[in-house]
Amino acid sequence: MDFRLTEEHEMIRDAARDFAQTELLPGVIERDETQTFPTDQIKKLGELGFLGMMVDPKYGGAGMDAISYVLAMEEISKIDASTSVVMSVNNSLVCWGLETFGTEKQKQKYLVPLAKGEIIGAFCLSEPEAGSDATSQSTTAIDKGDYYLLNGTKNWITNGGTASVYLVIAQTDVEKRHKGINAFIIEKGMDGFVVGPKENKLGIRGSDTHSLMFTDVKVPKENRIGENGFGFTFAMKTLAGGRIGIASQALGIASGAYELSLQYSKERKAFGKEINKHQIIAFKLADMATEIEASRLLCLKSAWLKDNGKNYDKLGAMAKVFASETAMKTTIEAIQIHGGYGFVKEYHVERLMRDAKITQIYEGTSEIQRIVISRSVLK
Ligand code: CAA
Repeated sequence: MDFRLTEEHEMIRDAARDFAQTELLPGVIERDETQTFPTDQIKKLGELGFLGMMVDPKYGGAGMDAISYVLAMEEISKIDASTSVVMSVNNSLVCWGLETFGTEKQKQKYLVPLAKGEIIGAFCLSEPEAGSDATSQSTTAIDKGDYYLLNGTKNWITNGGTASVYLVIAQTDVEKRHKGINAFIIEKGMDGFVVGPKENKLGIRGSDTHSLMFTDVKVPKENRIGENGFGFTFAMKTLAGGRIGIASQALGIASGAYELSLQYSKERKAFGKEINKHQIIAFKLADMATEIEASRLLCLKSAWLKDNGKNYDKLGAMAKVFASETAMKTTIEAIQIHGGYGFVKEYHVERLMRDAKITQIYEGTSEIQRIVISRSVLK
């Protein structure tokens, strides 16, 4: 067993770190406050290959592995989780799903510009009454011979307003429950497709979250992904990889808060010495460092399993539940270490705490991850 990163992995991590410091850090507080989407930053991220990291170069991707993706996600998320969620959804949920299950025609038309970062994509599963209970889709796609007729509403869709391509999960045959679900490629601008207002969120406020409404949208048959009835399996398989991305996002939020706390604890003095010389602060830092390291190992192991063609459903769920809980705990403690400074925006940790919360909710809540893990360990 060799835990060392390769030189190439280190280069990718360092490139992501540099990008985060030079391109994301300036303006991150303002984007959060004004809920401004990082348009220029996403464009540059695409030019560097970070929006189609694992896609084969023949489809415009960077041809990197999942380990590289974890490393880059951690670095970007340390500074700006609003940017890293765009990156995660585009890489894991949209590009991976299309590359793995799309037809050659779908790949040429949609994957190539998505992987190059020329456009971004969205993954649309959640509904007003079907977030965790993903089999209970109310959005319908009725087979009309030459096309499907799509009707329904999707909620909390990341990249909802900025995406050009949407992978939409819908029920085609209610009787068949999850075996009657399909996934479709929908383009912005199709007749009957309306993007609802932007959500005003607690965290990841620079990202762009919307409801989407579909009324009698005619979807060409060639836009269905996979065989008829493949949609639920498509969603589950895609989300399994997405969880590695969000686990890495949570890892980055935690390590960002930890690094700021460590630095602050060396500068701030109280009762005649640096605050990290007080055991109560030193122990907090020790717990943070331990849980972050464990999160990192879970993220990297699940990525390693993926890179080596092994099943990563359980490890990805473990990484997500552990890293997201670590992000929440670490960011709360980071504010405590910063005291009053931690409560104001200039010190970043309050934003990291608000951003951490969503990692316990999207791409499957912590409760859902425990369902996935327990089913795996009990079978
Ligand atoms: N890979 C392949 N197939 C899978 C699978 C996987 N990882 N997980 C389940 N399936 C298959 C099962 O084998 C089963 O198929 P068969 O009937 O042929 O055997 C079928 O799917 C149904 O499985 P279950 O009976 O286990 O289904 P369930 O209703 O009990 O639900 C669940 C399972 C794990 C709870 C699932 O519903 C789930 O993951 N829910 C959470 C969904 C989610 O993550 N939502 C977040 C929205 S996306 C998002 O947040 C994106 C964003 O914008 C950031």
